[in-house]
Amino acid sequence: MKNSLLVLAALALTTAAVAGPKAAPAKGPTSPKVTPALLAQGKQLFATTCVACHGEKGDGSGPAAAALNPKPRNFVTETFRNGDKPEQIFKTIGDGIPGTGMAAFAYLAEGDRWALAHYVTTLRPAKK
Ligand code: HEC
Repeated sequence: MKNSLLVLAALALTTAAVAGPKAAPAKGPTSPKVTPALLAQGKQLFATTCVACHGEKGDGSGPAAAALNPKPRNFVTETFRNGDKPEQIFKTIGDGIPGTGMAAFAYLAEGDRWALAHYVTTLRPAKK
């Protein structure tokens, strides 16, 4: 009994050492710092790449929206299927939403996708 406890303790120690402070968190793309310049970059990309469907204010009223089913998301009033945190929007922009007009914009540089993700959050009403 005493021995098996010792073994357990030793095991726990080894595991702690392996998973310890050196273990990096799951590595995904990380956002650059949100600055006015990043948001301005996002706004500009949005105007050239997203407005046709999502509309200038992100309310889903772009000229191409009428022809789409499902309609482009209204960022101002609707819930996001895949979440509206910047990390989640970043992923949506890169992956698209299969079966809808929302294409994957993986051709955009990672920095551009982050700029867009953060800009989209500014079109959402502030959360309380
Ligand atoms: C050709 C039209 C079209 C263009 C261009 C377009 N989208 Fe979309 N987008 C859609 C449609 C349609 C949906 C809704 C899909 C659905 O209902 O699942 C959508 C949904 C979204 C969502 C909501 C995702 C969610 O989780 O609900 C985000 C965010 C988004 N688009 C961002 C963008 C950004 C940023 C751009 C520009 C890089 C862009 N879209 C360009 C059609 C478009």
